[in-house]
Amino acid sequence: MSNDRSDGVAPVPAGERPLGELIEAGSRYLARRGVAEATSVCEWLAANLLGCGRLELLTHTAAPVGEERAAILRSQLIRVAGGEPVQYVLGEWDFRDLTLTVDRRALIPRPETEQLVDIVLAAEDLWCGGAPWIVDVGTGSGCIVLSLVHERPGARLTAIDISEAALALARENSERCGVGGRVEFRLGRGCGEFVAGSIDAIVSNPPYIASGVVLGLERHIRDHEPHTALDGGEDGLDIVREITRDAALVLRRGGRLFYEIGDDQGSAVRDILETHGFDEIEIREDLAGKTRFALARLRGL
Ligand SMILES: C[S@@+](CC[C@H](N)C(=O)[O-])C[C@H]1O[C@@H](n2cnc3c(N)ncnc32)[C@H](O)[C@@H]1O
Repeated sequence: MSNDRSDGVAPVPAGERPLGELIEAGSRYLARRGVAEATSVCEWLAANLLGCGRLELLTHTAAPVGEERAAILRSQLIRVAGGEPVQYVLGEWDFRDLTLTVDRRALIPRPETEQLVDIVLAAEDLWCGGAPWIVDVGTGSGCIVLSLVHERPGARLTAIDISEAALALARENSERCGVGGRVEFRLGRGCGEFVAGSIDAIVSNPPYIASGVVLGLERHIRDHEPHTALDGGEDGLDIVREITRDAALVLRRGGRLFYEIGDDQGSAVRDILETHGFDEIEIREDLAGKTRFALARLRGL
């Protein structure tokens, strides 16, 4: 980033300027480079730099931040302007009550997935028996499984991922969240490696984007987030089929299956679930009114 006024970031040694001016200049810089929600993004970076929340920033805007911090902010702005997701630049992101480390090893946790956790927590019959065994397939950063163990400490939890790198991140996050040792992490594909009929529930936000669509995604997703976390094969449903087939074997009769799915996949997922012996199938919407979740129960004898 150059130091001239046209660049809108640091016409004078930036650290001597009040934070508010720096945020304004940084927001203009990001907006000119086509970054969506430029002001919010700049505020996230500034709040993270100061170790405060975005709302608290207001109490700091009149004071200079100092050159060291300003230099960090400038380098972060350059990364975001270059297309890197702000979450990876920050290196951490909030998911429900947890702050998780996020980096290129795994998908950035999305707000819709917070709702998937709500759906699992609200499944009363799952929790009434005491300590259900729940398996999170495709754990990524660990956001789902770590929220479950945090919010329902009694449950037995296992997290699986096909990616060694993602699993390492999930393990690190379990330590960061103070629940290390309370989740079993397994490197693997699908969830077929359990004793038949032993699991109470399976939850998954699998890769569900059709291969042909992945390359057309916005560049901050396509060029930075792992494709193993996005690409669900020709119609986006390869991993859903794999997990559903495995789940029909390892879930106990009456066991529950919870998916996050694509907004155009409701009826196809319903068909897959029916074919593999699931009933009480529900397709639900997210808070934006888009089809987003599939819930089902493995048929009893
Ligand atoms: C969409 S990401 C979800 C990550 C995290 N659960 C979340 O909600 O943010 C899907 C994850 O599934 C993993 N994955 C892909 N194929 C898999 C398979 N066949 N079996 C297990 N995990 C798989 C990917 O490595 C990735 O971490």
